Amino acid sequence: MILPLFYLILFIVLNPLVILSAAKDLFDNWYGEDQILRYTQNDKGNYLLLYYHPMKAIVLEAADKPLVCKEVEKPTLAPGEVLVHIKAAALNRRDYWITVGKYAGIKYPTILGSDGAGVVAEVCSEADKHWIGKEVIINPSNNYGKSDDYQGADFKILGLPDDGTFAEYVKTRVEYLHSKPNHLTWEQAAAIPLAGLTAYRALFTKAKAKKGDKVLISGVGAGTGAFALQWAVAAGCQVFVTSGSGEKIERAKKLGAAAGVNYKAQDWAEQLKLMAHGFDIIIDSALGAGFAKFPDLCNPGGRIVIFGGTAGNIPPLDGRKIFWKQLQLLGTTMGTHDDFTAMMAFVSKHELVPVVDEVYDFKNAQKAIDKMEKSSQFGKIVLQNLWC
Ligand SMILES: NC(=O)c1ccc[n+]([C@@H]2O[C@H](COP(=O)([O-])OP(=O)(O)OC[C@H]3O[C@@H](n4cnc5c(N)ncnc54)[C@H](OP(=O)(O)O)[C@@H]3O)[C@@H](O)[C@H]2O)c1
Repeated sequence: MILPLFYLILFIVLNPLVILSAAKDLFDNWYGEDQILRYTQNDKGNYLLLYYHPMKAIVLEAADKPLVCKEVEKPTLAPGEVLVHIKAAALNRRDYWITVGKYAGIKYPTILGSDGAGVVAEVCSEADKHWIGKEVIINPSNNYGKSDDYQGADFKILGLPDDGTFAEYVKTRVEYLHSKPNHLTWEQAAAIPLAGLTAYRALFTKAKAKKGDKVLISGVGAGTGAFALQWAVAAGCQVFVTSGSGEKIERAKKLGAAAGVNYKAQDWAEQLKLMAHGFDIIIDSALGAGFAKFPDLCNPGGRIVIFGGTAGNIPPLDGRKIFWKQLQLLGTTMGTHDDFTAMMAFVSKHELVPVVDEVYDFKNAQKAIDKMEKSSQFGKIVLQNLWC
């Protein structure tokens, strides 16, 4: 957009602050109130007049610095991209790892957030216009690649490297939009994407869970753990859990778990063996010392699926148990477009409602991260699009 010559001359000659205040009203009239005038100084000391579309966002400016609520530029769209007005977003442990600088490929500043639900506000391509005004959930598993078995080299997760959902608006591609199920609130819908998808793929695509299977979910208080529990119960599996909290085990039972043990107890594995006599499937996101007990806890032909290492790495294992029982150790990461579509159909069919631990306003995002650091949540920590 070309500025009128008159304003340019006045701007260079006179104090830019005076000009800005006068020009702002005019520009608001011309271009709409969501485009705001700003001025900046270049390296020669000259003032440059800019206008841009602002939005509020939660920004991480450096590792170990508290998240700040800032005004940033609203994303601009390229063909195939859409802008979603976020109603609610949710946290994953990934967001916490990034805030403490322990994640590959970190850049600053960054807008965190892989999970989000909202309303499509803008599209770039004419062909996508029918999405405008639609209530959607965003699949954060981007560029999964050609193989359904593993992610390709271009795989990326919404919320780093691309700016994420802890903002008024987020940019994504149209193929990552999925309709929000009607039975869910915004907060419940936003809770699903990353953790729900990971648990869905772990359980069904990788472990081939079916009705009647005996399933162990370790660390059920995790966002991913609570989804694994809900998905497995809905599929008719018999589910056992571990947790570091007796209270969380009781909550898991209310969601359909048959029983649970505290992984901090010395004899947790022996307790589980007495209760369940062996598992067809173990879903684990913690690894750590306790992992060594899993081969012993599996039934012959059992599958152990892993996707995280919250408690450290895999300790030395009894390899003989693995080959003699013909166990499978399966790694997984998030999921494909088909996994996401199947998960959303599963959620709608069974009218499943994610476990939301607590809802914070966006302005309290740091408090939400602090809660995740302590792992005191059961299920998902959610942020609402409410600001100061
Ligand atoms: N590869 C992927 O695609 C993928 C996707 C999602 C997550 N992840 C990873 O998976 C892990 C879980 O993610 P999240 O977002 O669900 O995490 P989260 O909500 O922060 O949950 C962390 C949970 O880990 C459990 N835990 C801690 N120490 C444990 C132990 N020794 N044994 C068993 N459980 C233990 C605790 O469960 P209790 O509270 O019940 O004790 C805790 O609540 C993270 O490491 C994350 O990076 C990977």
